[in-house]
Amino acid sequence: MYTYEELKHFVDHCRRCPLAATRHRAVMGRGNLQAPILFIAEGPGRNEDRDGIPFTGQSGQVFDRLLSGIGLSREDIYITNIIKCHPPGNRDPRPEEQEACMPYLKYETWLLKPKIIVCLGRVAAQRIIRPDFRITREHGNFLLRKGVWLTAVYHPSAILRDEAKLPETEADFRTICDKLSEL
Ligand code: URA
Repeated sequence: MYTYEELKHFVDHCRRCPLAATRHRAVMGRGNLQAPILFIAEGPGRNEDRDGIPFTGQSGQVFDRLLSGIGLSREDIYITNIIKCHPPGNRDPRPEEQEACMPYLKYETWLLKPKIIVCLGRVAAQRIIRPDFRITREHGNFLLRKGVWLTAVYHPSAILRDEAKLPETEADFRTICDKLSEL
């Protein structure tokens, strides 16, 4: 059994896939290890690659606003990514990169033991919920798997590209907040 710090050390020095050669910093998830809620996005962007911290860029600001809309902050949640290293040109993570990184996500999930997992965007939803998950049709829906509630919302960067997605996402966050208070 490893602690969070030990796991972070493995992630920081990971060479399990070719992204190790192009990243500046690996980005371990972070937040409150006692939190009942785990957010999973797809992979670090350019800012995160520089800082080594998830969601420090513009998408992070959108995420923080959505959280504060339901009275939460980063101290109340844990956030991580499917892959821990920035893919060049911000392309989607390849299946083999996702596969190589899965042990870290599984271990983070095991450490946290969340009651709710929220996938941020299509890539995370298709990896965690179902390979054919359709984010436009299915965001905000909940399903119970092995005692954990799973849901997905639009990725904050999708909201930056299309503001019309903001009200729906705020509504999804309110549903998440209701779910949290039920549990
Ligand atoms: N986008 C992601 O999917 N993850 C981050 O950490 C930052 C931006």
